[in-house]
Amino acid sequence: MPLSSSAARADAPNDFEAWWMPFTANRAFKKSPRMIARSKDMHYYTPEGKPVLDGTAGLWCCNAGHNREPIVQAIQKQAGELDFAPSFQYGHPQGFQLATRIAALAPGDLDHVFFANSGSESVDTALKIALSYHYVNGNGSRTRLIGRVRGYHGVGFGGISVGGMVGNRKFFGSLLAGVDHLPTTYNREMQAFSKGEPEWGAHLADDLENIVGLHDASTIAAVIVEPMAGSTGALPPPKGYLQRLRQICDKYGILLIFDEVITGFGRLGHAFAAERYGVTPDIICFAKGITSGTVPMGGVVVRKGIYDAFMKGPEHVVELFHGYTYSAHPLACAAGLATLDLYADEKLFERARTLEPKWADAMHALKGLPNVLDIRTLGLVASFDLASIPDAPGKRGFAGMDHAFHELGLMIRVAGDTLVVTPPLIVSEDQIGEIADKMAKTIRAVA
Ligand SMILES: Cc1ncc(COP(=O)(O)O)c(C=O)c1O
Repeated sequence: MPLSSSAARADAPNDFEAWWMPFTANRAFKKSPRMIARSKDMHYYTPEGKPVLDGTAGLWCCNAGHNREPIVQAIQKQAGELDFAPSFQYGHPQGFQLATRIAALAPGDLDHVFFANSGSESVDTALKIALSYHYVNGNGSRTRLIGRVRGYHGVGFGGISVGGMVGNRKFFGSLLAGVDHLPTTYNREMQAFSKGEPEWGAHLADDLENIVGLHDASTIAAVIVEPMAGSTGALPPPKGYLQRLRQICDKYGILLIFDEVITGFGRLGHAFAAERYGVTPDIICFAKGITSGTVPMGGVVVRKGIYDAFMKGPEHVVELFHGYTYSAHPLACAAGLATLDLYADEKLFERARTLEPKWADAMHALKGLPNVLDIRTLGLVASFDLASIPDAPGKRGFAGMDHAFHELGLMIRVAGDTLVVTPPLIVSEDQIGEIADKMAKTIRAVA
């Protein structure tokens, strides 16, 4: 089609075919689209103007709510001043300012920030820094990476290799070599309907000892886990589990990476989950909430000793052969700075902490509804495991998501037959009630 034809114009009617949508049932969507045209605060709006309560903070990212004025203004101002600047061998003030602000929020001596553009890139960055840290320290035999069953670390080859979701792995060949997995921390029999961190399961961290016994610590670079696994239906860490993992990593000189792409920036009531659990990892991956979802951004924060290990040799030589064209993009930095200000001004992390018991009570009140096998809550997160329809796994969950959007005006996430809600941190108590009520209606509708 020639470029001048109407099909190439921005105002041409939608052709649903051209966009191959990510992590989407494309054919079902294109038959019955769930379209979003506008957003403000706690709501999305369909092209027809129908409000949809955002029960998912977009995709776990819009923690400050939508189209917040200070963030919008900061992005607009930045676009007028500096649209792009290379961050290879050049820098701009906002990049340094934002790194300083993030370092100040990170625990312990995690004080250097490397920017990427997404959670997946932040995970790749963390894994590469871990491997090369051992290399520059003369421990080049430490190449093995340890993930966890049911973990999600994005969709890069590094992330799917250490990740533990079969659907994200089985289609993509041999993945990275030399990866092992810890067992999942979830056991329904022992943990069902726990509010917050389950009592049972700290001992599952000890499996790292078995992996060390099998391969020897001298071959292991790093362990990567989400403090709360999110993508197969939120799985809160058992009490004491993360502390135990830290102890074993320390014992064997293994780096501990927390993937805080969804737990960072207030979801669990703190800047990072590391703070909630009093566990300092060596590297934290972040993304999503850093700009409240407004402009793509991700990155890692590393301990001082990791950064320092690279700062040797002739000063004109690049120390780490890694980076992205859009690392520390000026628009993302401006959005990030305005977002961190808004989080602080409105005390949104504390707000999540204060709301957590009310949220948990409202969600756990749905116990006993048809097909509900488990409800898990942590911070402003709730997961509802529903029984699968025999021979049709995922069908009930999908129907629930579709029903909630079209019939009830509520956006929720679905992972198989698990429904997940994670609203922006500005959610009101009334809206928590509305979410609970609409979740109950959804669960009954798909019974
Ligand atoms: C824990 C975790 N890591 C990484 C990612 C990947 O982030 P992105 O989709 O921005 O690449 C996600 C996305 O949900 C995530 O939940």
